[in-house]
Amino acid sequence: MINSLSGRTKILAIGLMSGTSVDGIDAALVEICDRHNHLETNLIAGYTYPYPADLRAEILAVCAGEARSLQQICELDDRIAESFAQAAIAIMEKGVKKPDLIGSHGQTVFHRPPVAKKMGYTVQLGRGALIAKLTRITTVSDFRVADIEAGGQGAPLVSMLDVLMFSDPTKYRVCQNIGGISNLTYLPPNSIENKAQVFGFDNGTGNVLMDMATQKLFGESFDRDGAIAQQGKPDLNLINNWLKQEFFITTPPKSTGRELFSPDYLAARLAECQHLSNYDILATLTEFTAMAIAKSYRDFLPVFPNEVLIGGGGGSNGYLMERLQDLLAPAIVKRTDDFGMSSDSKEAIAFAVLGYLRLNGRAGNLPSVTGAKRSVLLGEIYT
Ligand SMILES: Nc1ncnc2c1ncn2[C@@H]1O[C@H](COP(=O)(O)OP(=O)(O)O)[C@@H](O)[C@H]1O
Ligand SMILES: [Mg+2]
Repeated sequence: MINSLSGRTKILAIGLMSGTSVDGIDAALVEICDRHNHLETNLIAGYTYPYPADLRAEILAVCAGEARSLQQICELDDRIAESFAQAAIAIMEKGVKKPDLIGSHGQTVFHRPPVAKKMGYTVQLGRGALIAKLTRITTVSDFRVADIEAGGQGAPLVSMLDVLMFSDPTKYRVCQNIGGISNLTYLPPNSIENKAQVFGFDNGTGNVLMDMATQKLFGESFDRDGAIAQQGKPDLNLINNWLKQEFFITTPPKSTGRELFSPDYLAARLAECQHLSNYDILATLTEFTAMAIAKSYRDFLPVFPNEVLIGGGGGSNGYLMERLQDLLAPAIVKRTDDFGMSSDSKEAIAFAVLGYLRLNGRAGNLPSVTGAKRSVLLGEIYT
């Protein structure tokens, strides 16, 4: 398979991703053109295939630390792989020929960043071997493990796509993903030639707190377009206190997940919100999400960006986007769609590209982003 890719300038790949929101599997059918190591991506189709409700509930239970036997975890691994394979087969039908590869992130159910000399630990379920068997397409999966083993955070990994696609000759850019968790890639001018200057990190809660609160207080799965938050008033004193928590003041590299921003974390914040209406609570959590992002730029980026390119589901929250535009001024804040890439499919495209790089024997991590000691090949290959 590696040989069959080499020397070809255009290949067809599927990227599969489900993030910490656990909303569904993002699938991207993407053409990757590689000319003299200049990559271009052309999205042919991009869809989110929602998880069946019982599977989503089981994933969230495991993420929340509920006890399961190893057998139950293995069965969950296969159910997730089957769902990922179904998503791949469904999107494959949108193209005219069989894809050359699948790059599958899987579903994170546990993520422990490295601390001091202790190696991190990360678990993505949805085994690549089963996806390869069910789709009959070479599948690359388990992308985060090699970076963790090289001493890194295993995250963010989308930064490689960001540098390949969005480096600008003159501007300082930030690619800001707002999934369940927020993460960014900082791209100084010409970063494609100066990859060592690129850096990035997980910078906040993303949608996860807003989603959990919307479910608990309003019985909806998320606050569509921020319509609920927009009706409330944020409590800035509370937010400024929350921003003093260890995660927000820790210097990058850093990564986080549902282990920190958990149901217990939300319960502790809600306990401090008893004087607020439910609308004010959503407004406060939305402002917290936006302020955590803005504060991380001011605290940790060497140069404040000229442009901020938003990806992930948070970009569809118009109210959150307004708050970011306000808090990040004078930077221009726009979704990646305005720069030629679907913001909904961007992470799935990233894993298609990372799969392609793996099969070509090219490193996928950026040590300046993840904190790994070296560039490494990311992912296991299953045929
Ligand atoms: N129209 C919308 N309005 C507000 N929030 C939205 C909208 N569409 C998606 N989202 C948010 O985006 C989340 C999914 O984002 P996604 O990028 O898929 O995250 P992840 O990578 O963690 O799966 C949803 O859970 C929801 O919070
Ligand atoms: Mg998602």
